[in-house]
Amino acid sequence: MPKVLVTGGAGYVGSHTAHVLLRKGTEVVVVDDLSRGYRHNVDAARLHVRPLADTDFLVSLMQREQFDAVLHFAAYALVGESTEKPELYFRNNVAGTVSLLDAMSRVGLRRLVFSSTCAVYGEPLVVPISEDLPKAPLSPYGESKAIVETMLSWMDRGRGMRSVSLRYFNACGADPEAGLGEEHDPETHLIPLLLRATMTGQPITIFGDDYPTPDGTCVRDYIHVLDLAEAHIAALDWLMADKPSGFFNVGTGSGYSVREVLAAVEKIVGKPVPFRIGPRRAGDSPVLVANPAKIQETLGWKARYTRIEDIVSMAWEFERKHGKRRTAI
Ligand code: UFG
Repeated sequence: MPKVLVTGGAGYVGSHTAHVLLRKGTEVVVVDDLSRGYRHNVDAARLHVRPLADTDFLVSLMQREQFDAVLHFAAYALVGESTEKPELYFRNNVAGTVSLLDAMSRVGLRRLVFSSTCAVYGEPLVVPISEDLPKAPLSPYGESKAIVETMLSWMDRGRGMRSVSLRYFNACGADPEAGLGEEHDPETHLIPLLLRATMTGQPITIFGDDYPTPDGTCVRDYIHVLDLAEAHIAALDWLMADKPSGFFNVGTGSGYSVREVLAAVEKIVGKPVPFRIGPRRAGDSPVLVANPAKIQETLGWKARYTRIEDIVSMAWEFERKHGKRRTAI
């Protein structure tokens, strides 16, 4: 069983992946500065609360623990915030990764799985999106991930560091049995906001219904966080087998519109979702749907949660069981 360092393991996707790895018997150590993640997502004995910028700390941790690979989730992920504070995103997502790569080089650690995003494509001209489309990010967030992908290709050439970049589409869902789910602060994502609207009665704003899509609202590829966790494990297995570096879309290949997701929430919760139609949100593409053929053919990974009702149902169970702790954070 490999031993892995998980950066950002107290965050949304990182905590779910760490949990699945532990269940499979992999040894996991988490580094997280808790600026966006939560202590309650990680077993205290495994958690080091430190910033990635602390290269010397990372070097000594890596020397002590002798990791086989790094799973690198630690990053800020709000598109809107990144356009207001680009320097924050370049410092945290890019400079933080430089520090991590520096530490890895110093100890000769040469396997990395990186959390990338479909935001590297910007507004794609062709949908579904294949990996051969050019990178053209529309936000500092997307750019920060594109820059790291480029850095990784140079680390491969210059240092023999093998990496897999996973370009997530819309991460969503929860693992309510593990007590894990979406707890962003502020929450900006569609599914938790729809669920909360049913509880508070406060209407959610749908950002535009005049897009060139069947019902006028944006279409996204919603990928369950447990499927993302399995994609990381497939990528880790790939690197442990000394296979070459690569980058892959991680999506289901199917899209749902905002109105379709709203209808799924109404069905699962059994209550209407109060909503109003607002203007378009800056930077939203009409349709973002993955072509997941490459990851399926190469890593043998395929999404298991393809019905939006199943995803919403798990997110709802988490919200009912654990939503209250949000007010206590
Ligand atoms: N939406 C609303 N109202 C809301 C929130 C969202 O109508 O209150 C709509 C958005 O306009 C979009 C869809 O719901 O059409 C999904 O929005 P999310 O904010 O949940 O997700 P995004 O598609 O904006 O973001 C995701 C990831 C980002 C990634 C981005 C790439 O969360 O990390 O895709 O475009 F960068």
